[in-house]
Amino acid sequence: LREHEEFTKVKNIATIELGRYEIETWYFSPFPPEYNDSLKLYFCEFCLNFMKRKEQLQRHMRKCDLKHPPGDEIYRSGTLSMFEVDGKKNKVYGRNLCYLAKLFLDHKTLYYDVDLFLFYVLCECDDRGCHMVGYFSKEKHSEESYNLACILTLPPYQRKGYGKFLIAFSYELSKKEGKVGTPERPLSDLGLLSYRGYWTRVLLDILKKHKGNISIKELSDMTAIKAEDILTTLQSLELIQYRKGQHVICADPKVLDRHLKAAGRGGLEVDVSKLIWTPYK
Ligand code: ACO
Ligand code: ZN
Repeated sequence: LREHEEFTKVKNIATIELGRYEIETWYFSPFPPEYNDSLKLYFCEFCLNFMKRKEQLQRHMRKCDLKHPPGDEIYRSGTLSMFEVDGKKNKVYGRNLCYLAKLFLDHKTLYYDVDLFLFYVLCECDDRGCHMVGYFSKEKHSEESYNLACILTLPPYQRKGYGKFLIAFSYELSKKEGKVGTPERPLSDLGLLSYRGYWTRVLLDILKKHKGNISIKELSDMTAIKAEDILTTLQSLELIQYRKGQHVICADPKVLDRHLKAAGRGGLEVDVSKLIWTPYK
């Protein structure tokens, strides 16, 4: 599908069943034509295969032996686990995840060339298995220094801090790669809010602790956040002055405290000591 066609297509699937949730969808997703006459689709929450009828799902669940996403568990802290799925090794899973995600992503063209992507799937685990709460995708090689292509928290899990956790995780991977990163554009409204929130919180925390001058380059080296994103964030907080042709950070402690109060919850932290990962080669 061309981008334009995707934008203008009317929503087809109205609801999905996934694990213990029934979820209302937000947008059109280009499922194969034989699924387009169904209002509801039934997903296996582990392999993400989807079916038109509940009985098919029940039959599938009796023989599906997955209890977590395919791929490597690269992070575990308490009940939270992150799995890395290589789209080339798990094409069907990657494609299923894209179909599912598109139901909640408006402006994104989906790349069905899942070979080129890694998928980071965040799960809440219990004795029944690891239940996906959200994910982000990442190009294996990005010319534009993108460290995240698409991000989604499934609606039943939204507004609990998982979005900021996923964003934080994407920057921890960039730090391990020794690169700066930025999310692929355009961002949705909710995506922009979440990124603004993350950038603001991370930068304010550093400025608050740091004594003396600090440059945007130094902030970028410490956080793996791209310099442009740091500049726009600090500008929106009115912490930047332009002097002698240069942007200078003016971090008045009183202003910092005011912003920090307004910045809200810090959210779920990524415990880097629990991340076992080496960059993709
Ligand atoms: N209304 C107002 N503010 C919101 C809302 C909302 N409904 N949702 C998130 N925010 C803001 C808040 O500032 C929130 O922080 P706070 O709760 O401390 O105030 C912040 O975003 C992040 O909240 P989280 O709970 O960490 O994020 P969540 O788990 O809800 O996930 C996400 C955010 C991934 C953007 C989610 O809304 C989503 O999946 N949306 C649909 C898909 C989408 O738009 N993805 C981004 C596309 S852009 C891209 O992929 C590069
Ligand atoms: Zn299955």
